[in-house]
Amino acid sequence: MEKEEKMEKEKIEELRTEIARHDYLYHVLDQPEISDYEYDKLFTQLLQLEKQYPNWVSSNSPTQRVGGAPLDSFEKIEHRTPMLSLQNSYDEEDISDFSERVRQFLKTKEAIEFFCEPKFDGLAMELIYENGSLENAITRGNGQVGENVISNVKTIKSIPLKLQKAPKLLEIRGEVIMLKEDFKNLNAFQDENGLSVFANPRNAAAGSIRQLDPRITAKRNLKFFAYAPGVLDGIEFRSQSEFSDYILKAGLPGIGQNNSVQSINEFITETEKLLSQKATKLSDLKLAFCCQSSDEVIQYYHFINKIRHQLPFDIDGIVMKVNRLDYQDRLGFISRSPRWANAAKFQPEQSLSMVKDIVVQVGRTGALTPVAILEPTNVGGVIVSNATLHNQEEIQRKDVRIGDTVVIQRAGDVIPEVVSVVKEKRPDGSSPYLLPTICPECGGPVEKNEGEVVLRCTNQLCPAIFRESVKHFVSRRAMNIDKVGEKIVEQLIREGLVSTFSDLYVLKKEQLLKLDRMAEKSASNIIESIDRSRTPDFSRFLFALGIRFVGEQTASSLAQHFSSVDEFLVATEEALLQIDDIGPKVSQSVLHQLKNASFVNEVRRLITVGVHPVYERPTSNPDELPLKGVAIVVTGTFEQSRDEIKTKIKRLGGTCPSSVSKKTNYVLAGEAAGSKLKKANELGIPVLNWDGFENLVKGSK
Ligand code: IVH
Repeated sequence: MEKEEKMEKEKIEELRTEIARHDYLYHVLDQPEISDYEYDKLFTQLLQLEKQYPNWVSSNSPTQRVGGAPLDSFEKIEHRTPMLSLQNSYDEEDISDFSERVRQFLKTKEAIEFFCEPKFDGLAMELIYENGSLENAITRGNGQVGENVISNVKTIKSIPLKLQKAPKLLEIRGEVIMLKEDFKNLNAFQDENGLSVFANPRNAAAGSIRQLDPRITAKRNLKFFAYAPGVLDGIEFRSQSEFSDYILKAGLPGIGQNNSVQSINEFITETEKLLSQKATKLSDLKLAFCCQSSDEVIQYYHFINKIRHQLPFDIDGIVMKVNRLDYQDRLGFISRSPRWANAAKFQPEQSLSMVKDIVVQVGRTGALTPVAILEPTNVGGVIVSNATLHNQEEIQRKDVRIGDTVVIQRAGDVIPEVVSVVKEKRPDGSSPYLLPTICPECGGPVEKNEGEVVLRCTNQLCPAIFRESVKHFVSRRAMNIDKVGEKIVEQLIREGLVSTFSDLYVLKKEQLLKLDRMAEKSASNIIESIDRSRTPDFSRFLFALGIRFVGEQTASSLAQHFSSVDEFLVATEEALLQIDDIGPKVSQSVLHQLKNASFVNEVRRLITVGVHPVYERPTSNPDELPLKGVAIVVTGTFEQSRDEIKTKIKRLGGTCPSSVSKKTNYVLAGEAAGSKLKKANELGIPVLNWDGFENLVKGSK
């Protein structure tokens, strides 16, 4: 190998190790050391080197996490030892009985330690590391044979692709989950795009793993928690505790056991303290604990049940496992469950209520969402008085009617929903519920787009659509105008003070004071809060505009690509489609808005009234632009419009004079070019066709 090549190879290895370390710091410890920008720089550097040396691309390079080409199907793989299920307990007595059965089986009077941890509500997964390299990831399947979902699992950034100092074979079993927050965002995205929403984080995690297209999985932000060893070669553990400590040391994601406390009481006090410090990172919360008796397990069970809603992910119980692995071996299993472990489940958080009414809300995209108004009821400690019914199909499937007694559940601990109807309690004379055929707010027509399940109001002037758009504009993840809540938005619109987004930025305190029950202090707070929002990140600004299909992620991609509002407003289809995350649907939607004069005027007005987005992508150094100082006259017809081409030239640093002169560097001539082409030939100015132009741009980069 040439010396230079050798150095490049070393550089590739160095970058991979460095990126893996930053993945761990960010995704496992939640403690990044570098900015996203610096991370991206390392990543791009690695990508470029791998492109240059394709023979050195390795299946465990961090670049393989983005998700490769879609698969036709998953390969079936047999587990080396079966993946079992667990027997359940539901109360204190069941827990004591389990512990007693274990003691009798082992025929010992000794106290038996039980390693306890939360029971994650996700889907079981087996990771297989061979000589430290992640080779396969297999779902539980029927327990004997599962599906190899390795391409998808590689997109989970907290799972290392390579382990340092690893044994010959290391099988790690654990659970793939989706955090509640990510679940909420995913459903908002699904909803906005007319796609079906997931019932809970577990279904969302399972659905994301069973995707044949790993690029979709890569966007789902899944997490993994290791909880048990599978078959091993070259490493041994004596207990679950030892395994748990190893996991964290090896850089694998696990919940971690709290070793710093001596008793369950101390564990409880310490964990409560950590939880009360709201900013606590998940990696600081070591939620597993090795209990010394079944009484301690019972205390652990009640405590975890109490704090479950404060956790960022769903759990449905705790798992207690005999800590010593030699005991586990002796205990073995019975039918399909181990004798050494038991799941103590929490009572499901459901309760009964009555549907007093069904109302239909119109969202900012015009979507009609039916909502059940309920007799207020306590579901797991929270009073619920309405629940989403999603759409007409869901209402039909569950056959929910006004007057029905229904089972309510807080799915994913956040959004209450109607699970089912208690048909025996249905009052006489009720009839199936049908969504209105006109918009309940403006009376305008509603329609269902092809491939969607939701009905939408098609009246662009529908007051509900505008009202909801403003609520979105001011919301926390958009412009974050925190003192302008939903009620204030409604008042401002009702009083005629706000009829465009930009009107917010010219509001005067005196105008606010005229509103109902508006005190001096609140008015000042509102004005200050509006002022604070004048310098949003460009991605938030783009998200706030509420362009169809432009959610947070897409907005962020757009912001990475365009370095100013002006540049964005003249975006071409070609430019949009160049962006990774953007396909024809999103690009059509953006272009549609950009052709809408009132939208463009409103965006410009926002800037005029003093909104100054902070651009994520620093404006390129003008001296480095590929067409810097190059004058190109565009003439004739092309596939794209001349305006689009001129915009592109200008974006690349060039100028587009309208006539040919000696100062012209090139003439770009399309079909049926006339006098300008003739003039160019007379003056001896180089003439380019489209290919020539593209080469010029590429060559000068
Ligand atoms: S230990 C059965 N620990 O629960 C082998 N399992 O209902 C030992 N689960 O298929 C499993 N959290 O996917 C264990 N902390 C935890 C768990 C856990 C969730 C799942 C596991 C299993 C299912 C059985």
